[in-house]
Amino acid sequence: MTNDSSDRKQSHLSICINEDVSFKKKKTLFDEIELVATALPGLSLVDIDTKTTFIGKELNAPLMIGAMTGGAGGERGNINSAFAKAAQKAGIALCLGSIRPALENSGLLKDFTVRNDAPDILLFSNIGANQLNEFGAKKIIEVSKKIEADGIMVHLNPSMELIQPGGATDFSHILEEISKLLDASSDYPVLVKETGMGLSYTDGMKLKNIGVKYVETGGAGGTSWVGVETLRSEGVDRAIGNMLWDFGIPTAVSTAWMVDAGLNVISSGGIRDSVDIARAISLGANMTAMARPLLKAFASDFENGLDNKLEELITGLKYVMMCTGCKTIEDLKGVSTVRGSKLSHYIETGWTS
Ligand SMILES: Cc1cc2nc3c(=O)[nH]c(=O)nc-3n(C[C@H](O)[C@H](O)[C@H](O)COP(=O)(O)O)c2cc1C
Repeated sequence: MTNDSSDRKQSHLSICINEDVSFKKKKTLFDEIELVATALPGLSLVDIDTKTTFIGKELNAPLMIGAMTGGAGGERGNINSAFAKAAQKAGIALCLGSIRPALENSGLLKDFTVRNDAPDILLFSNIGANQLNEFGAKKIIEVSKKIEADGIMVHLNPSMELIQPGGATDFSHILEEISKLLDASSDYPVLVKETGMGLSYTDGMKLKNIGVKYVETGGAGGTSWVGVETLRSEGVDRAIGNMLWDFGIPTAVSTAWMVDAGLNVISSGGIRDSVDIARAISLGANMTAMARPLLKAFASDFENGLDNKLEELITGLKYVMMCTGCKTIEDLKGVSTVRGSKLSHYIETGWTS
């Protein structure tokens, strides 16, 4: 198994499109949030407004195409460019996949240069926390600004790195490295995300204490990145990967904790439809992000698959807002909900862990 970062990305794409790498049993626990319906919404569909503002940009809906491996995708063309065009058309945000290949080889920068495809969108670059020291804050900020990103999303992924063949094993200085990036970036936004294991309440407070304002939960219950790496590993790591496949904090719990920690929250990890988007917003999230289902929609029909899926999600959100009597995203934040006991118990008892 090769571990050159470009080849690894190709293998990630192929596994995410062709294999079932969802969590096996663990759920996001969004299914424990019942939005209380109303048969008398007192609204007309034309009045329902899914627009929101995040980091200074107006979006048609609180939705982002989550960070996904970009660059040349063979028959799929430049995936980043396709994602950017779809985000522009839908009026939503986009987080690029890790810019590591472009930091290693400046010739690949063009694969991440999508501003011409999407002049208006909220756009983030992306880099692994383990690469902060390797490339240095200055270069990462420089490249992110060069591609005209509106900020940098740093991803945390200890469980995935442990199972990944040749992955990182030293996570002792991650907070210091993020802190250095924050210092060097001054007003340029830095966001921090997980990739499937979720952020605990303590993680949220640690990040907040060093000055992080924006987090993406990347919680458990959607795509398992340990699962993806398990399929690429052998021997002992494969066995341990199978054990840790479902490890992590359910996304609904991580979302509630990040809101409690006082952070601006993008809820992600297993957001699968418009009802999930509404449930995440009802927990206090400002935004949501979806990754693998959008890649699969794109792969199923390169021309229209992604555009159709995004239209379905945004129109679906409008319908959910109608059926709950919410005219605006602010209304949705205050919508009546009934929470299941498993979710409430987890939120109330696990926050010190
Ligand atoms: C093909 C693919 C590539 C990904 N690459 C990255 C990446 O480069 N950086 C990152 O932060 N997350 C990456 N992710 C993780 C997603 O952003 C997201 O956190 C995770 O897949 C959970 O969301 P989901 O359940 O909607 O797929 C990738 C996901 C997919 C499906």
